[in-house]
Amino acid sequence: MALFVALSLSSSSLAQDVAAKVASLRAAATHVERIKLLKDDEFVFDFLHASGGETNGAAGRTVAASAANFPAVIGHGMAMTIGFLGPCGFNPPHTHPRATEFNFVVNGTLEAGFLAENGARFVFNELHPGTAAVFPKGAIHFEMNNGCEDALFVAAFNDEDPGVDQIAQRFLGLPPAFVAATLGDLGVEQVAQLEAKIPDNVALGTEECLKRCGITGKGQPTNQRQPRVSANALPSGFGGPSATPAPTETTGNTAATSKGSVTSREIHSPTQGISGGISLSDESGRTNPLIIALIVLVSILVAGYVALALAFIIRRNGEKRTRSRGLKYFRTGSDFAPQGALFEKEKTQSLSPHSTPYDPPHSGL
Ligand SMILES: *[C@@H]1O[C@H](CO)[C@@H](O)[C@H](O)[C@H]1NC(C)=O
Repeated sequence: MALFVALSLSSSSLAQDVAAKVASLRAAATHVERIKLLKDDEFVFDFLHASGGETNGAAGRTVAASAANFPAVIGHGMAMTIGFLGPCGFNPPHTHPRATEFNFVVNGTLEAGFLAENGARFVFNELHPGTAAVFPKGAIHFEMNNGCEDALFVAAFNDEDPGVDQIAQRFLGLPPAFVAATLGDLGVEQVAQLEAKIPDNVALGTEECLKRCGITGKGQPTNQRQPRVSANALPSGFGGPSATPAPTETTGNTAATSKGSVTSREIHSPTQGISGGISLSDESGRTNPLIIALIVLVSILVAGYVALALAFIIRRNGEKRTRSRGLKYFRTGSDFAPQGALFEKEKTQSLSPHSTPYDPPHSGL
């Protein structure tokens, strides 16, 4: 416990030191002034013994050097992440909101893909040692070590604070009702169940890879889920999985991605601006003809119902008047009752007890 307190105190004071240094570097008037603010060894980042900038999961880790933990990048518009991917290690789908990534594979084979934006096709590549792939700024991308040995990548970013947005954790960490609505027919409880499963980065990869490598990974940590505050809280009294753990420091460019245009193996998927449902107007602002047709149809139906209702009221009023004038326009209910000699005879006949199909069979039960 004391150790934990000491560790968290030292890491928070370290973060404060970094923040103060970053602020003074940003405020420096010139680059010459910046160099004066840093000692020689502060220009070197040790990825193998880093403090901060780390993201750990069941299948590996990434280490980032960025404005969050390495002040020397300030003013240079760049950052770097090293990915240490275990067998089948998977850096799950994420984006970097402020940087394009250039991901170099040192060893191992990575499978990598990205989706840049609505209307763009999915781009997928297998990356071999010595190749590097570009992931455009903001694109959803991922990479997986497709081998049964450790793999290593080096990812460069063209921003000193590239940021990372893990798709699964962030999306499923939105208010549950809105996530449920986004996903169609899912209920809030299902959303919460899904959210509770999201494994930390670096996660275990595809089932195929795990089988091939004989990995039976279970119980991955789930500490990188979105913390719940009142605005995205689970419904009160919800009996599902516990709300998220305390916020973790997953800043920096933890999620380095490797996808490459190098081994050109692109999957062409016709995902041109998928728009479900009917929109009121098209791109040029004109109202959708389908909507006009629907409005006309509904108007005709409504007019028809109003006309029917009017006719009914008029007729009923007419009947009342007729009856009050004593004209025998109406027959009373008893007029419709069966009568006559045949009916009187039927009334005297007793029905056989099993003559109707609704009698239960007498099976002796
Ligand atoms: C990559 O390098 C690491 C470190 O030397 C090594 O442990 C690993 O086995 C290598 N992976 C491959 C696929 O060669």
